[in-house]
Amino acid sequence: MIVSVDDLTVRYDGATALDGVSLFVEAGEMVALVGANGAGKSTLVRALSGLVPYEGRVVVRGRLAQVPEGREVFADLSVDDNLRLGGWRNGRRGRDTTFVYALLPELTPLRKRVAGTLSGGQQQQVAIGRALMARPDVLVIDELSLGLAPLVVDSLVGHLRELHEERGLAVLLIEQNARLALSLCSRAYVLEAGRIVVTGPARSLVEDPRVATAYLG
Ligand SMILES: Nc1ncnc2c1ncn2[C@@H]1O[C@H](COP(=O)(O)OP(=O)(O)O)[C@@H](O)[C@H]1O
Ligand SMILES: [Mg+2]
Repeated sequence: MIVSVDDLTVRYDGATALDGVSLFVEAGEMVALVGANGAGKSTLVRALSGLVPYEGRVVVRGRLAQVPEGREVFADLSVDDNLRLGGWRNGRRGRDTTFVYALLPELTPLRKRVAGTLSGGQQQQVAIGRALMARPDVLVIDELSLGLAPLVVDSLVGHLRELHEERGLAVLLIEQNARLALSLCSRAYVLEAGRIVVTGPARSLVEDPRVATAYLG
C-alpha cells in the first residue's frame, strides 16, 4: 500500500471538513475520489501533503507529488523554470526536464514561454509535469478537468493513462466529473460532507443508484 489514510479528521476553526475518513491507494493503482464542491476533497490533499493539522493516521510509503487545485503554476516564470522547481529536491537530476517533455510533448515548443500566458490546458500540463519532476510514486491530482474543454481533457487523460500503464505510476484522481473519474479508475471513493459514503470498484459504483442520481445525472 502506497497511501494509507486511517480515521482522518480535519477541522478549520471548529468546522469539521473531514470526519473519520479512511482510504488507501495500492502501488500502481489508479483510484478516484469524487464529491461535490465543499465535500472536503482538497482538504484531504492538504492532509496528504502535511499542509493542514489533522487527527488520525496518514502513511505514505514512497514519494507523493500533487497537482494542486487551480494548477498554481508560477505565472511569471517560464515553463522550463516551473518544471525545474518541481525537481528541486532531487539535486542535479531534478534539473533534467527531458523525460517530462518526452511524456508531455505538447510542452516542448512552449518551454521558454511564460507560464501565465498559457491556456488552462497547457497550464495543467505544466502542473502535471512539475509534479512528475519530483519523480513521484503516487500522483495526487486535485481537479484534473475543472474549467477545461473536453478535447483538452481527453488529451490529458491520454497522458495520464500512459503514465499509469507504462510507468506504473499510482494516481489518486480527484474529480467533480464523476463519469470521467469512474471511467478512468479501477476503484473509487465518494466523499460527502467530509465522510466517505460509498466505495468500491468503479464498475459497481456506476450502477449504484446513490452515485447515479447524485453524480452521474
Ligand atoms: N482554509 C479554510 N478555512 C476554513 N474553512 C475551509 C478552509 N478550506 C476549506 N474550508 C471548508 O472546508 C470544507 C471542505 O473544503 P474543501 O476541502 O476545499 O472541499 P472540496 O475540495 O471538496 O471542494 C468546505 O466547507 C470549505 O468551506
Ligand atoms: Mg477542492
